[in-house]
Amino acid sequence: MREEGPVTSVVLPHGDRVWLVTRYADVRAALADPRLYKDWAGKLTSPDWVPDAVTGYLSVHLLNADPPDHTRLRKLVAKAFTARRVAGLRPRVEAITAELLDAMEARFAAGEDAVDLIEAFAFPLPVTVICELLGVPVGDRDKFREWSHAIVASDGDPGSFRAAGTAMFYYFNELVAAKRAHPADDMISALVEARDAGDSLNERELIAMLFLLLVAGHETTTNLIASGVLALLTHPDQLERLRADQSLLPGAVEELLRFVNPLNHATDRFTLEPVEIGGVLIPAREWVLCVTSSANLDPGRFPDAERLEVEREAGGHLAFGHGIHYCLGAPLARLEGEVAFGALLSRFPSLSLAASASTLRWRPSSLIHGLETLPVRLA
Ligand code: HEM
Repeated sequence: MREEGPVTSVVLPHGDRVWLVTRYADVRAALADPRLYKDWAGKLTSPDWVPDAVTGYLSVHLLNADPPDHTRLRKLVAKAFTARRVAGLRPRVEAITAELLDAMEARFAAGEDAVDLIEAFAFPLPVTVICELLGVPVGDRDKFREWSHAIVASDGDPGSFRAAGTAMFYYFNELVAAKRAHPADDMISALVEARDAGDSLNERELIAMLFLLLVAGHETTTNLIASGVLALLTHPDQLERLRADQSLLPGAVEELLRFVNPLNHATDRFTLEPVEIGGVLIPAREWVLCVTSSANLDPGRFPDAERLEVEREAGGHLAFGHGIHYCLGAPLARLEGEVAFGALLSRFPSLSLAASASTLRWRPSSLIHGLETLPVRLA
């Protein structure tokens, strides 16, 4: 498609028409184009839209917002995620990593042949970090994992989607009430204070913000670590290079982001007026899918794009998006990735797959691109 129809309209299985944009240059330009909106067809801001009680509440977050709402909401949380602030979290990220890898080592030592790397490490690491940052009890993480998975699954039934959304909504309501009564040194308390001190965000936006941050913290870095480890284990020459020279780690994390696309294959936008992309005129009120995973494998931008090369100059990849919605958590995800890969390589030099790569299952979701499990052993 990149070569023959880089901007093409297709009909999805459930009948919606969508325009697929697949070339690097077009995807990047589209993501920076202010005529492509996030608020789907202007619905969230339309006075006629009657939101569903629960999902309506969870939807009014910055990733669904356009300026000026987007600008206002992003400013409220941007400070907490700058590269400098995040660098201060390194010792804590390293400590959590060491604890989790100790526990993994103990399981191997106790005779377990194979361990699921996702359950033992790739999931709990980022989740513990985001829970601590927000002020969400880490003990509730399994509950969240279940809700979050039900919300992003594309094969789940609408009932479980709604049930998970409802449960999350009530959970956050209670948490906000608790922080209001007893503020702590965490992000939820800071947002509650901002909410109560002025009109910078309303209660719906506050709940939606927490929902977005927690789901983003649950569903993303886990896949960078797990899919990244799979990519390295199936490219032993690249794994050896990285093991031999850990100063390559920051660049290797960029290359793994490009290669595995941990969030998803594509991110969507909407037109409210006709917009030309890559020489094709897309009419008003159309749904556009910017296929970032295709852009990241575009040989027009990355030579030999389908090869994993940890020493490649992978900067400019679109795994974190581009433009005003560029991933807020990118510095945190990069830090977690660097610490996680570095520690795994040094602690478990003989780590290997405990199942053949072709039998591994990917989660059925159009929102999230990640493995169900990743069984590993010490060879
Ligand atoms: C936005 C990817 C980790 C918070 C995005 C977008 C992408 C992305 C592609 C833009 C989507 C779009 O334009 O439609 C990733 C990847 C991650 C990661 C690949 C890990 C490897 C995180 C983490 C957080 C986070 C750990 C933590 C809080 C956010 C937020 C937005 C966002 C709040 C919305 C920004 C906005 O709309 O202005 N992320 N993300 N992400 N990400 Fe991440």
